[in-house]
Amino acid sequence: MFEVKRYKDITRIMMGTEVNGRVVFSVAAYLIDGLLIDTGCHNTRRELVDYLANQNISMAVNTHHHVDHIGGNKVIMERLKIPVFAPQESLPIIARKQDIFSYQEQLWGCPELCLVNPLGDKIHTTHYPLQIVNTSGHSGDHVVFLLRERGWLFTGDEFFMEKPNSARKDEDNRLVVKALKKMLTLQPEFLITSSGRIYSDGSDVLRRTIAYFEKIKDRVHNLKKSGMSSKEIASKLFGEETSLKEFTEGQFSRENFIEGFFINSAD
Ligand SMILES: [Fe+2]
Repeated sequence: MFEVKRYKDITRIMMGTEVNGRVVFSVAAYLIDGLLIDTGCHNTRRELVDYLANQNISMAVNTHHHVDHIGGNKVIMERLKIPVFAPQESLPIIARKQDIFSYQEQLWGCPELCLVNPLGDKIHTTHYPLQIVNTSGHSGDHVVFLLRERGWLFTGDEFFMEKPNSARKDEDNRLVVKALKKMLTLQPEFLITSSGRIYSDGSDVLRRTIAYFEKIKDRVHNLKKSGMSSKEIASKLFGEETSLKEFTEGQFSRENFIEGFFINSAD
């Protein structure tokens, strides 16, 4: 799957792989004023670079190191001869072959290792300055990009959807909420997300999502005190697991989301 759609001055590029005839997960990259934000997955790298070869593009950036956001890095650097930038913490991870799960191999493919350049705290396109803000919720190296004069916040995976109820293993909901609060301080008008959805009431969406996490957290802790397991709490609050748990061999599930309220990783 490779689909390009234009939203005013933003070009959205959706990428994904068909598994048994359907696209289970897709991921968005965005092209604005010559800057590509995220480069999709390895499986769609050729379609991406063929498309970009006919566009006015001067550089690419990654929001974080996950394989569905860096898969086009190497081919973009080699064919288009433009620089790719990533958060400082992402650099050593992108520079080596990542250990990935079999579902990730199927969905995204494994990116070729490559050496990219470190991001600072701002980056300039031809017409706009973008502020780079470290959020470190979804992953420790995650950054978001704010184009303040337009109210655009490119969230990567840091804000994916309202009311999530599934997560990867080891995703710490305390850090996720901290990141949501940090993004709210930026007062975005638009949230431009890696799910492909663009929200026009960005700050309200963030407020609602923070309130949702706080409410679920209280319920989860009360149910845990009553003796329920995380699996039982997930079932009570959200119903039975979907096929994603089996497909990802437990790496992505509702139970993981509940467990995320009890992780105490360092800030
Ligand atoms: Fe991610």
